Amino acid sequence: MIDPLTIHVRQEQSSDHQATEALALAAFDPDPRVAELVRRLRASDSLITELNLVAQVENRIVGHLMFSRARITSGHELALLSPLGVLPKFQRQHIGSALMLHALTWLKTSPYPLVILEGVPSYYPRFGFVAAHPLGINPPFDLPPAVWQAYRLPAYSTQVRGMVHYPEPFDFLHIEP
Ligand SMILES: CC(C)(COP(=O)(O)OP(=O)(O)OC[C@H]1O[C@@H](n2cnc3c(N)ncnc32)[C@H](O)[C@@H]1OP(=O)(O)O)[C@@H](O)C(=O)NCCC(=O)NCCS
Repeated sequence: MIDPLTIHVRQEQSSDHQATEALALAAFDPDPRVAELVRRLRASDSLITELNLVAQVENRIVGHLMFSRARITSGHELALLSPLGVLPKFQRQHIGSALMLHALTWLKTSPYPLVILEGVPSYYPRFGFVAAHPLGINPPFDLPPAVWQAYRLPAYSTQVRGMVHYPEPFDFLHIEP
């Protein structure tokens, strides 16, 4: 088990690109589209660069987390969490948690009202995520309700509602084959 004090979270640098793309391929095996998403997000204005985070243990990149800006029909800008991946050998050793806590701490002092994500319902509630549909936050496509989750930040109000428009880097994922 990794000593949590040895997990260093910092912004991704260009010298990390190869490692984070390899990480996406390994964590999301056999789906190579996440590595492609990582490349598209990096090249996009929608990326929240302060939240393009890697987790490093000794000299190795073992986790990667990205956020981008999404719009909702009420006019607000939201923080969209995707992707979050940890190298298989390093999973369940609190690396994902270290990345999540770093990002949420930053977001709590930001103007963003809400974080949204599509993710496993067994993981994200431990950080305070709740089902997004009951808040009036809807995805732009059909999703199992339990995977569509939101985290209310200090800037949240019930005026934040409607349908979420994903930024352009996600378009290729939602085109029917
Ligand atoms: C999901 C993922 C990011 C979690 O990162 P991680 O570093 O393994 O998670 P952590 O060690 O921080 O987990 C914290 C707690 O959640 C639990 N947990 C981890 N993954 C879980 C999962 N998929 N479902 C439910 N609980 C999970 C851990 O056992 C741990 O429990 P504990 O506090 O009782 O010890 C990582 O396992 C991963 O990369 N998976 C493959 C890619 C993926 O599915 N990404 C997310 C898409 S939604």
